Amino acid sequence: MAIYPGSFDPITNGHLDLIQRGSRLFDRLIVSILRNETKEPLFSVEERTEMLLEVVHVYPNVEVDSFDGLLVDYATEHSATVLLRGIRAISDYEYELQMALMNRRLRPEIETVFMMSNEAYSFISSRLVKEVFGLGGNISGLVPPSVEARLDRRLSKTKLKGA
Ligand code: PNS
Repeated sequence: MAIYPGSFDPITNGHLDLIQRGSRLFDRLIVSILRNETKEPLFSVEERTEMLLEVVHVYPNVEVDSFDGLLVDYATEHSATVLLRGIRAISDYEYELQMALMNRRLRPEIETVFMMSNEAYSFISSRLVKEVFGLGGNISGLVPPSVEARLDRRLSKTKLKGA
């Protein structure tokens, strides 16, 4: 059983590609959202959970959950042996290596597995999607259509508020 942890604020097609790959590799995959309010997320954990559920329901062995505290403790509580993370470019490597080695130091029995998403998604990040969308750029094809619709609704709400 594996855990795919992250902020998913919001889920992108890069994340989704990794979930699909992970669902083929592991018997069970839990996609788990970090509950961290200090990051000032655009979407609440509940909204992010809904968005994830809308797109992962097609994979019977994929579940959605959230966690706080240490990731390795959460993984241990769920008897997970693998932490799944995606690497896009070499720039991701340093941060991911630090986390993987720290997690290994904390719990040597849990292994971090890195996977590469489709190269078509190698430039996508939740942060850039939010920035481009907020400035009126086209993000279709970068996030699932249900997420795009939610971003649309969020933006029109903000505009109404500002008016
Ligand atoms: O998608 P992100 O924001 O890059 O995911 C980062 C995440 C959630 C994997 C990382 O921040 C995390 O594991 N946080 C939980 C707290 C923890 O265990 N910290 C020590 C990591 S070495």
